[in-house]
Amino acid sequence: MEVLIRDSAEIGCVLGAKIIASVVREKPNAVLGLATGRTPLRLYQELIRLHKSEGLDFSRVTTFNLDEYVGLPPTHEQSYRYFMQENLFRHINIDVKRTHVPNGIAADLHAECRSYETRITDAGGIDIQLLGLGRNGHIGFNEPTGSLRSRTWIKILSEQTLKDNSEVFGSIDAMPKHAITMGIGTILDARRCLLLAFGPSKVRAVEHMIEGPLSAICPGSALQLHPRATVILDETSAAGLHYADHYRWIDKHKFEWQRHG
Ligand code: GLP
Repeated sequence: MEVLIRDSAEIGCVLGAKIIASVVREKPNAVLGLATGRTPLRLYQELIRLHKSEGLDFSRVTTFNLDEYVGLPPTHEQSYRYFMQENLFRHINIDVKRTHVPNGIAADLHAECRSYETRITDAGGIDIQLLGLGRNGHIGFNEPTGSLRSRTWIKILSEQTLKDNSEVFGSIDAMPKHAITMGIGTILDARRCLLLAFGPSKVRAVEHMIEGPLSAICPGSALQLHPRATVILDETSAAGLHYADHYRWIDKHKFEWQRHG
């Protein structure tokens, strides 16, 4: 796992956008795995800036989002489809037909999960998967103790996750308690993973993900198995790491070709 500690979330998000932009420049028909939540917002703003001011071209790009709440239509302001439209898709030259978010109101949710996996495979697999990290260590909506080999499926949200995400819904009662999410096995199949985690609320999850044992109790720790996973932190989320100096040392002594800028 490559651990990059930066001075601020702002710098981390700009770096994350740079990494994604380099994938798109190298492979104009890249398949991007995307995430929602507060963490990637600034990264999306930077991608929009790169599109508008540097001509970063998304016309041949395909995207797959990690997850969606069960029961929310795409027009619902808290649905992840709505989030993606508002925060990225409508600002760039992407063909909306190439953007995929699980359908949380599908009549047959099981069939929707299976079809999502098929669509990812048919697109040639995900070139880079962007991830955030839940306070309890979840990735996508894969909550603690879920299988580390799971595929896209319907998951029950934990109380902690409901609390953390309830602000925008007004109350936990107003929230869906289930979501469709790519499984951890699905995420690990991506050719690259890029996880962003910022702020003091993520300290414990970050520590466990990077330095704790590989364990389903911290789904993010599954990234220890990934051959090409990059984690971008700020100083506050990295505060609990025991080997922070080691990560900084590695970062400092990289070959030029290993640097992301
Ligand atoms: C949500 C999403 C995750 C996201 C995480 C962290 O529940 N399903 O994909 O990474 O929680 O959210 P935030 O970035 O708002 O802290």
